[in-house]
Amino acid sequence: MQALLNIAVRAARRAGDVIIRHVDHVHKLTVTAKSRNDFVSEVDRMAEAEIIQTIREFYPDHAFLAEESGSQGESENVWIIDPLDGTTNFLHGFPMFSVSIALQTKGRLEHGVIYDPMRQELFTASRGDGAQLDGRKIRVTNRKNLEGALIGTGFPYRANRRFMQEYIGMFRAIAENTVGIRRAGSAALDLAYVAAGRLDGFWELGLGPWDMAAGTLLVREAGGHVTDLDGDDTFLESGNIVAAPSKLLTSILAELRPHLPKS
Ligand code: IPD
Ligand code: CA
Ligand code: CA
Repeated sequence: MQALLNIAVRAARRAGDVIIRHVDHVHKLTVTAKSRNDFVSEVDRMAEAEIIQTIREFYPDHAFLAEESGSQGESENVWIIDPLDGTTNFLHGFPMFSVSIALQTKGRLEHGVIYDPMRQELFTASRGDGAQLDGRKIRVTNRKNLEGALIGTGFPYRANRRFMQEYIGMFRAIAENTVGIRRAGSAALDLAYVAAGRLDGFWELGLGPWDMAAGTLLVREAGGHVTDLDGDDTFLESGNIVAAPSKLLTSILAELRPHLPKS
């Protein structure tokens, strides 16, 4: 395994340990609302500090874009970090959350790690090197259309509630044409599950770059495609993402298109 990926794995596992240490005591945590229905606990912050400290020990000059502490440093190497993806689940004891770490070099995603500390599942990818779950190669499914497909999503919340009407149109279109929709509550894990063939595809509006960076590389290295709702490559900026095997992605986009928000 490459040195950079190795450090990302070490950081993700350490953050996972922090999360697991608190999983049975969530009622004792100090939880603050960043905005309506958007909470952060000290566990998010401790896990993020652990990740940044682990990486800094080896790469003191690298920069960070982390959900809780924002942008730090200037470098062609930027670590994009979600220390706890699925905070709402974590705070409710709903066992579906993850740690997501990606390294972007000169604007290109090079390494990605998503770690599920409850199941101790480790998803990894390096550009050009494929995607793995616990060291074994993973692939997206070979599903070509919506018939029989299992699709992941996230419901709009926070500022994106304003797109609820459009989202419901999208939801209906996908629900009527597939075998089912899942809303697990951790976008990073949803993307890892697409890479592992556990979901055929995934879409969500209004995500942050830390929700998507590692998962995007995983899906691509597992043979899948990732675009925004227009079919182009600006999802890390727009926050709107669709991920699936190529032909299925075309079918998903066609269903979503009539419901796209005007802006
Ligand atoms: C959230 C999760 C959730 C998605 C939200 C994200 P957080 O991340 O990924 O599945 O629907 O849009 O913000 O806040 O728990 O890190
Ligand atoms: Ca997140
Ligand atoms: Ca988070």
